[in-house]
Formats: sequence, C-alpha cells, structure tokens
Amino acid sequence: MAYSLLLPFLLYSLIFQSISVLAQNKSTIAIGDSFTAQTNNSQWLLSPSGDFAFGFLPLENTDVFLLSIWYAKISDKTVVWYANRDNPAPKGSKLELNANDGLVITSPNGDRLWNTEGLNAKVSSGVFNDTGNFVLKGGKLNSVWETFQSPSDTLLPSQILPKGEKLSSRLKETNFSTGRFELLLQNDGNLVMHSINLPSGYANENYYESGTVAIDTSSAGTQLVFDRSGYLYVLRENNDRFNVSEGVNKVSTTDFYLRATLTFDGVFTLYKHPKGSTESEGWTTVWSKPDNICNHVDNEGSGVCGYNSFCTLGDDKRPICQCPQRYVLVDPDDPYGSCKPDFIQGCAEDELSKTNDLYDFERLLHFSVQKEA
Ligand SMILES: *[C@@H]1O[C@H](CO)[C@@H](O)[C@H](O)[C@H]1NC(C)=O
Ligand SMILES: *[C@@H]1O[C@H](CO)[C@@H](O)[C@H](O)[C@H]1NC(C)=O
Ligand SMILES: *[C@@H]1O[C@H](CO)[C@@H](O)[C@H](O)[C@H]1NC(C)=O
Ligand SMILES: *[C@@H]1O[C@H](CO)[C@@H](O)[C@H](O)[C@H]1NC(C)=O
Ligand SMILES: *[C@@H]1O[C@H](CO)[C@@H](O)[C@H](O)[C@H]1NC(C)=O
Repeated sequence: MAYSLLLPFLLYSLIFQSISVLAQNKSTIAIGDSFTAQTNNSQWLLSPSGDFAFGFLPLENTDVFLLSIWYAKISDKTVVWYANRDNPAPKGSKLELNANDGLVITSPNGDRLWNTEGLNAKVSSGVFNDTGNFVLKGGKLNSVWETFQSPSDTLLPSQILPKGEKLSSRLKETNFSTGRFELLLQNDGNLVMHSINLPSGYANENYYESGTVAIDTSSAGTQLVFDRSGYLYVLRENNDRFNVSEGVNKVSTTDFYLRATLTFDGVFTLYKHPKGSTESEGWTTVWSKPDNICNHVDNEGSGVCGYNSFCTLGDDKRPICQCPQRYVLVDPDDPYGSCKPDFIQGCAEDELSKTNDLYDFERLLHFSVQKEA
C-alpha cells in the first residue's frame, strides 16, 4: 500500500525536477525564444559544463543592461564578451532569436538597439558551447555567426583572431563603452597595440609590434591563436609559429580558467583563476605585454595617461597615472585622464611678488606634455 502511494509521488517529483532543470539551465535556443532584461534574473543560458553564462548583466549602479558572457562559477562576474557596449539596454528590453537577423535586442518602446551583424545564412538555432562560444547555427547546423568571431576585449582558449580583426578595450574597469586601446592583427600580418583618440578613433603609433610581417625568409602572420593549452602565438603563412607569450610555463586548463584580455589601460594580459573552490586567489597575471607601457609617449596623443600626467609602472605591469604637484585631475572621476594646474600660469603674479619666487621646477620622467592646439 505504501509503495503505491510513494511511487506516483516519486515519479511526479522526478518529472517535475527534470522539467525545472531544463527550464533553469539551458544551453540551446530556437527561433522565437526570448529573454527579458530584469534586475532579478541575469542568466539566460548556461554552457553544458556550467562554466559560462550568457544573458543580461546590469551595469554598475544603473538600470541598463549589457548582453554579455561571463564565468558562471566564480563569484566576481568577470565578463569575457559583450554586445551592445555603446548602446546599453534599458530594463525590460527583449533579446530574441530571429531567423533573418540572429540575436536582436529591442527596447521596451520598440527601438532596435542591437543585432548580430555579418550573418552569412539564415539562422535555425543558437548553441552555447563549453568553450564560452555562443554559436548561431544555420539550416545544416553549420555555424553562421559566433561570439568568438566577434570578440570584445578578451580571447578565450581555442579562440582565434584572424587577420584584420581586433580587440578593443573598455573605457574603465566597470565602463564597457569603447575604450582607448586596440590590439589588432594588421593585414600585413603584424600583431600590434596602439591607443586611439576618442571620439575620432584616430590610431596613434603602435606601442607593441610582433614583427610578424613578410621579410626575407619569414612569412607573414595569418592569425593570432589562443590554443587549448593556453599558448598565444601568431601562426604564419608557412605554418611557423611566433610565440607571443614567450617564456610562459604551461598552465593546466583543467585546474585554471585562462583568459587573454586587453585591459582598459592598454596591457594585453594572460590571466588565470583556479577552477576549484579555493577562490580567494582570484585572477592572477601569467604574462603581459608590453613590458613597460609608460615608455611609450605618442607623437599625436597623450600616451597611456592623459595630458600633463605622468606614468609609473605598478604591479602586473599596469600603468599608474599621477598629476604632478600643484596639478589636479580635469575629471576627478577619471584617474587616467588629463591634469591641469591649480594655479594661474603667468608672469604678472611673479612680478607683484618681488621678494620670493612663485615657481619651482621639478624633473619628471614619462611626463606627457600638452601640445599646442
Ligand atoms: C543551474 O546552474 C547553476 C549554476 O549557475 C547551479 O548552481 C544550479 O544547481 C543549476 N541548476 C540545476 C537544476 O541544475
Ligand atoms: C523577476 O521580476 C519579475 C517582475 O519584476 C517577476 O515577474 C518575476 O517573477 C521575477 N523572477 C524571479 C525569478 O524572481
Ligand atoms: C564547441 O566546443 C567543442 C568542444 O569544446 C568543439 O569541439 C566544437 O568545435 C565547438 N563548436 C563550435 C561551433 O564552436
Ligand atoms: C561610460 O562612459 C561614457 C563616456 O564617458 C558615459 O557616457 C557612460 O554614461 C558611462 N557608462 C556608465 C555605465 O557609467
Ligand atoms: C613556442 O612555444 C611552444 C610551446 O611552448 C614551444 O614548444 C616552442 O619551442 C616555442 N618556440 C619558440 C621559437 O620559442
């Protein structure tokens, strides 16, 4: 008697549980599936291994959202891909999979905010891969678009940056708008990094170059490869490799998450994070380039720091920008911005004060000087 009561209950709870599992953590979507940006539920899809999440992350202290991919199992939401960086979605915006336009974000009042670009066929489904790659598939289950082919500021193991493509940094650690630095595999095969002037986008001189161009016997680079073992190299036309991350000991990709990010302050950094429960360590630097970004001052732009600011190298080869004495930040909220004097420069004051000198000179290295307009 007891069995006959228990069995239906068990069956019911098993069925109910498996339905709720499917509903909670799915990794594939079909045409017409949609997801709404709201504060209480950011994750739409989860990669089968549970390592990566795909959905709408709220931007810090705001009611707007960014379509993103992030690590699902670590507590700080490290974002590795984002879509609508210069057009964030207000609360209530809808993301939908559409056969002709792929992923489409529509605001609550019906404006189209973003859609996938460069589709080469009609879409039939979306699959979120364990590598962190979200793939749109065509009728024959071939890939017609991938987040891996449309990178933001980060490459993941098994991701490739083809010739002509680039990473573009974010503006600040927590501001995902287009930032000041680019890592580009030029059409001549050279892997380069430079700053750009905002908002024009004018590219300043390169502060890093791999030199993988066709000269004499060496052949040109065709792609930047971040392989499954975590090595970064430029693959040349003759299949030779130029190791970008030279001198790096192998990091176990079973034990660690790896990512290669162009940081908002212009340093291309290979990071690792333990996968296990010992999370206190967080992200640590394995390798980075350039060796000293402060050594580089642009002819046209201001270098890594703003005008009238000087650069020192901190931990992890990241730049620290400071204003000289008696100078203050033009924008107090932007420590990487330009500085201005807190006094009036001129001879009139000096002449009035006959007894003592008003001005001192101080020698500073890596100081980026304001140029005449
Ligand atoms: C769904 O994934 C989350 C991790 O993001 C996990 O904590 C949860 O247990 C999963 N739910 C089910 C029902 O598997
Ligand atoms: C999230 O909030 C919406 C509306 O505010 C509500 O309808 C929905 O049930 C909530 N979802 C969860 C998972 O709490
Ligand atoms: C998905 O991931 C698997 C294993 O990581 C890989 O073999 C496969 O090529 C990937 N598919 C796509 C479309 O990226
Ligand atoms: C990011 O910076 C841009 C440019 O300064 C600004 O317009 C935007 O509001 C910022 N976004 C956030 C979320 O603070
Ligand atoms: C490049 O790195 C690979 C993997 O560590 C190594 O086997 C190879 O010898 C390196 N090549 C050069 C030229 O250093």
